[in-house]
Amino acid sequence: PRVIFSGIQPTGIPHLGNYLGALRLWATLQNEEDEQTELFFSIVDLHAITIKQNAKQLQQWRKEMLASLYAVGLSPERSTIFYQSSVPQHSELMWILSCTASMGYLSRMTQWKSKLALPNNTSPLDPSPTGKAALKLGLFSYPVLQAADILLYRTTHVPVGEDQAQHLEFARELAIGFNHVYAPNSKGNVPLLVPPQIIMSPAKRVMSLTNPTKKMSKSDTDEKSRILITDNENVIKKKINRALTDSIEGVSYDREARPGVSNLINLIYHMDESVASSPEELAKEFDGMSLKALKEKVAETVEMHIHDET
Ligand code: TYM
Repeated sequence: PRVIFSGIQPTGIPHLGNYLGALRLWATLQNEEDEQTELFFSIVDLHAITIKQNAKQLQQWRKEMLASLYAVGLSPERSTIFYQSSVPQHSELMWILSCTASMGYLSRMTQWKSKLALPNNTSPLDPSPTGKAALKLGLFSYPVLQAADILLYRTTHVPVGEDQAQHLEFARELAIGFNHVYAPNSKGNVPLLVPPQIIMSPAKRVMSLTNPTKKMSKSDTDEKSRILITDNENVIKKKINRALTDSIEGVSYDREARPGVSNLINLIYHMDESVASSPEELAKEFDGMSLKALKEKVAETVEMHIHDET
């Protein structure tokens, strides 16, 4: 039988990237998988503290995330929805796994490398002056905890957005390596640890509205860069209106040359895939439309679906 596991950090109300890249897919799986499939969705509070957090704020965010998961349609009657820190076995398995995880592999993870590359390695939330030596062990071993989350439940499938693909590959290889060390003769039928498969959302990478070559992210300091699933019609209109586009006339789909416009087209397409067979096709339908009209259409579509689906 299939076992589905995924997680989300409680670091604020989910945005459209979280929704289209993960949460909506979780709800679809929950509603469409056959009865035998088990589903686990975790609010990964232990991952959230890899950067400095305010305790009161984090407590609030955990509750908001739980409410958000219910709002997008996850149901405790069908899915197991839980705080990661309430199951101590996540941390225990992490320790065991960290004894076979290689430092070399971990140091090649892009999330880690991007933190290394920050001006003085500080997170926006951490005002203390730092150098490389001040980077935290928990941030380095973040993917090992993520692997423990997944492997603990003998997960077969993990629905996520593209930014998690590398962590998923790490979890797979860690499982395979662990099996090789501790159960070299097992005949594959009942592996010690189950190497998980990724289910990549069709909307695998939603881009920032203000900087469309970067992914939409909870940590961006500019609130106009993202739409939250709780934003009302007015706020959605304003944010889409200010979305960075370009000065090329008309609508066309080209992620390299027109990242902003392409992101907007993607938003409509992924919000409602019945509108066209691909973003390219959708762009053709919009041929001759002004960018102002495109933005109105985006705001309308996003608002309608968020309103209906959450
Ligand atoms: P997190 O909390 O950053 O994001 C939760 C989910 O949202 C997806 N996502 C996006 N998808 C498309 N476009 C975007 N702009 C975008 N931004 C976020 C992410 O791909 C993710 O699926 N490390 C994980 C949490 C985690 C986890 C796990 C996931 C911990 N343990 C075990 C799966 C399995 C994270 O930080 O996700």
